[in-house]
Amino acid sequence: MDRRLLLLLLLFLLAATATQVQGQPPGTTHTILLDPAMQLNSQASAGFIFIDCGIDPNSSYVDPNLGLRYVSDDQFIDTGVNYAVPMANVPSYLARRYWTVRSFPEESRNCYTFKSISQGSKYIIRAVFLYGNYDYMNSPYVRFDLYLGVNLWKTINLTDPSENIFTETVSEATADVISVCLVNTGHGTPFISGLDLRPVPTSLYPQVNSLTTLVNLYRIYMGNSSWIRYPDDPYDRNWFDFDTPPSWSVTSTNSSVQNQMQDQFRPPQKVMQIAAYPTNSTTLHLSLAPDPGDLTEFYTVLYFSELQPNATRQFLIYLNGALLNDGRPLAPTYLLSDVVFNSNPSLGFSECNITLVETRSSMLPPIINSFEVFTAMRNANVASNSLDVDAMLAIKGWYLVRRNWMGDPCSPQAYTWVGLNCTLNNSGVPMITAVNLSYSGLTGKITSSFANLSALQYLDLSHNNLTGSIPDALGYLPSLRVLDLTDNQLRGAIPSVLLEKSQNGSITLRTEGNICLGGDSCKTVKKKKNLAVIVIACVVAVVCVCLVAIILLCILKKRKAKCTVNELQNRGKYHLENRKFSYKELEFITDNFSKIIGKGGFGIVYYGHLEDATEVAVKLLTKSSLQGKEDFLSEAEHLTRVHHKNLVSLVGYCMDEDHLALVCEFMPKGNLKEYLRASRTDTPLKWEQRLRIAIDAAQGLEYLHIGCKPPLVHRDVKTANILLNERLEAKITDFGLSKTFQDDNTLHSSTRIVGTIGYLDPEYYVKNQLSQKSDVYSFGVVLLELVTGKSPIFCDLEDIHIVQWVQKRLANGNIEDVIDTRLCEEGVMNSAWKVANVALASTTHTSNRRPTMTEVVMELRECLAMHTNGDKMLLKHGSSEVYSESIDPSLLELQYVGSISDTEGPSAR
Ligand SMILES: *[C@@H]1O[C@H](CO)[C@@H](O)[C@H](O)[C@H]1NC(C)=O
Ligand SMILES: *[C@@H]1O[C@H](CO)[C@@H](O)[C@H](O)[C@H]1NC(C)=O
Ligand SMILES: *[C@@H]1O[C@H](CO)[C@@H](O)[C@H](O)[C@H]1NC(C)=O
Ligand SMILES: *[C@@H]1O[C@H](CO)[C@@H](O)[C@H](O)[C@H]1NC(C)=O
Ligand SMILES: *[C@@H]1O[C@H](CO)[C@@H](O)[C@H](O)[C@H]1NC(C)=O
Ligand SMILES: *[C@@H]1O[C@H](CO)[C@@H](O)[C@H](O)[C@H]1NC(C)=O
Ligand SMILES: *[C@@H]1O[C@H](CO)[C@@H](O)[C@H](O)[C@H]1NC(C)=O
Ligand SMILES: *[C@@H]1O[C@H](CO)[C@@H](O)[C@H](O)[C@H]1NC(C)=O
Repeated sequence: MDRRLLLLLLLFLLAATATQVQGQPPGTTHTILLDPAMQLNSQASAGFIFIDCGIDPNSSYVDPNLGLRYVSDDQFIDTGVNYAVPMANVPSYLARRYWTVRSFPEESRNCYTFKSISQGSKYIIRAVFLYGNYDYMNSPYVRFDLYLGVNLWKTINLTDPSENIFTETVSEATADVISVCLVNTGHGTPFISGLDLRPVPTSLYPQVNSLTTLVNLYRIYMGNSSWIRYPDDPYDRNWFDFDTPPSWSVTSTNSSVQNQMQDQFRPPQKVMQIAAYPTNSTTLHLSLAPDPGDLTEFYTVLYFSELQPNATRQFLIYLNGALLNDGRPLAPTYLLSDVVFNSNPSLGFSECNITLVETRSSMLPPIINSFEVFTAMRNANVASNSLDVDAMLAIKGWYLVRRNWMGDPCSPQAYTWVGLNCTLNNSGVPMITAVNLSYSGLTGKITSSFANLSALQYLDLSHNNLTGSIPDALGYLPSLRVLDLTDNQLRGAIPSVLLEKSQNGSITLRTEGNICLGGDSCKTVKKKKNLAVIVIACVVAVVCVCLVAIILLCILKKRKAKCTVNELQNRGKYHLENRKFSYKELEFITDNFSKIIGKGGFGIVYYGHLEDATEVAVKLLTKSSLQGKEDFLSEAEHLTRVHHKNLVSLVGYCMDEDHLALVCEFMPKGNLKEYLRASRTDTPLKWEQRLRIAIDAAQGLEYLHIGCKPPLVHRDVKTANILLNERLEAKITDFGLSKTFQDDNTLHSSTRIVGTIGYLDPEYYVKNQLSQKSDVYSFGVVLLELVTGKSPIFCDLEDIHIVQWVQKRLANGNIEDVIDTRLCEEGVMNSAWKVANVALASTTHTSNRRPTMTEVVMELRECLAMHTNGDKMLLKHGSSEVYSESIDPSLLELQYVGSISDTEGPSAR
């Protein structure tokens, strides 16, 4: 401590007198001056990361010679296998880090990742290798590529088991991570013995910048003892001794040699205290021939200091024949280091010749203390956008994705992470455009890090176990076109931005298989460790709910008398007095729940038949039901109120201790969605059948809107909720989301948006105002499905919403393009055109320009009449071409708007 204080004090003094010192003749002050590098020693090693690859995870040790801690590599890499090298193959002079290796038999690229790097800082990175026959394979050679980030650092070529290779770079961090990758090139399994990373001041090695990384080839000093490294060199550069030729002499000193104040290289003392010179010659010549390869550019750093007082020594410095030091002769200063280096590389030579030539005025031969030679790494590949890299690392960390997710996500192209697609942006930087993590076993929430991938167009997270809600931020990704969340356990509302984009067709949003998504009543069930607590809580809850439900049903039964209009005449044949079933009875009528006919919002639907053979559908609220009891009770409530031949009717209900079930009319032909789209439907619906179904469903909705007081908005009109009986009569089902209106004309502000994507009224989700017109919109989509046979959102070159698709085509006057290809009947054009226009009017963006359901019913009846009577007649030559020529579509649209929307007033009846 005292010593450090003293050093600090001296440092202050030094700083105070710095300008004076510089001006003074060297040599006179050297005992006071301190080498700044020496004070850095303790601090410099603070940021060091020394990895001993292959030692036990989480273990570490301090090297007794260096006093530095070596750590295991498990926190820097996911892949690889650890091996111990047979000690017989480890030369005794090699340190402990060579005793183990990590080997990479699996992926073709394996990367170490250093995080928390400060971008713009400089680092020296060193990798060491000793094969040592660790795998007992006696490989005659092992050759693989070592990459720093996205660019080739060095080809590691090991031909002798006991040969150790090490390579070192000086580089500037261009991102906040640094990766070092080993790439299998088909010449043996890559492995590594050790890797270390040492931060250095940014002033060091001025040749290094974001575009130039140096790879060290030589670092030599003129001594003949052992090599010099930490702590003599605060950055643990290794300075190797030199076998001086016999014609050279060596001189050394014990006095300290000062580094320049503006020192850019910080050579260690020990290196500067010894120098060599040719004994009987005026020229010092060093010819260095690095390993053959592509090395044609050299950067050298030459270190000089005069160790003889009052010497007159002067020489010119040549690198491969070119003068360095701006062509000026150098006269090294007594006990002060001078550094000469080339900022621009020496190009086009396979050797590196350093020649020092004595000038005429010199009394002594040239002298040299040490030198470094580097080559530059080729930046053949551009690293991915650094924000994308950060986001991908966060995503990888969040979901603990392994795969080959190492190193740069996009670059080099051959090693792009599995599941990613990238493109170059305008500046040639790779950006991530697609992420496919489907079937990846992901759990937990959707991390908002995805929203940092600013060029993302396609995100597939389908078929995972993702929970939580969809982050809003995904809706703001400017380029996102496809978001596939199919088959997860997501819940909560879909962010309105996403809904809006999905409705206007700019995003294809797939959310099927998330039972709770978009729904409103899925309460997060907190996981408790104690199962008993859950069970008790559930039982209590169910009992309470049942009580409430019974009370509700009683009240509603009484109130039912008020709800009518033409109720009586419209009663379905199954409308018995609502019957109460016990669970045992349900078991009986469903034959022990043996036949599943569907899955509703709140549970499974089973087939059953009553004593009199009446077929029924039993909707059983499962315990794990996600939609929840409220919707169930809500549906029960509505079912007891509404009776119409086009609404699925309630036969009875069950409220046993912990079973809630609704027994409904059975609809043998299933739902319209399956009927329209399933390929199993060998006989596609005829046009007339479609028209009748449309009319039925419209009547059902009309009844909900005006036939019942207070009126109901279904809120989830879609083909899946239109069921068909044996005679293909349509009935609307699934009232779980329906909402009552106290007053016909008021638009209601609803707190939560419910419904199904593709059918959702855009005005409803934007303004959150709910009215019967929201059902009209959804029904318009259903009509378009009937006309086209397509899904509300489908792929036509790109994903598109059915409304836009039909609009586009009808605008060209081409009804033929729009009509379901399976409708091969003739003479549907006129009525189909009319239905399409009813549908388009119903899906008008502004809700008060949409027709009412009553008007829709009337129009559809006209369509049916048109079809059954005169559809064919109107076609002059039975050809749609003639038709499309003869009618101006825009005129038709105008007429249509005039006849329906203008007459729209506050609920006519
Ligand atoms: C290593 O340490 C981390 C953090 O302390 C811990 O999570 C992990 O389980 C440890 N690994 C082993 C193999 O001990
Ligand atoms: C690998 O090293 C051996 C021996 O040094 C040499 O013969 C061989 O050419 C080298 N291979 C490459 C590709 O550099
Ligand atoms: C190393 O050099 C010194 C002189 O600098 C000499 O005395 C000594 O013998 C040399 N040692 C070896 C092993 O060459
Ligand atoms: C240098 O020259 C002197 C005299 O010419 C001679 O004695 C000596 O051996 C030479 N030394 C070397 C190393 O060549
Ligand atoms: C160096 O030269 C100066 C005068 O130029 C002289 O005073 C000094 O003593 C000399 N030093 C040595 C070590 O010869
Ligand atoms: C480097 O020096 C060697 C030996 O002195 C010589 O053969 C070679 O031609 C020189 N190369 C260059 C590029 O000067
Ligand atoms: C990603 O690239 C592959 C290969 O070019 C291509 O087949 C695939 O469709 C792309 N995926 C996306 C989502 O763009
Ligand atoms: C995901 O959920 C399914 C069904 O609950 C389960 O079988 C599977 O093991 C889960 N997968 C993961 C990775 O948790």
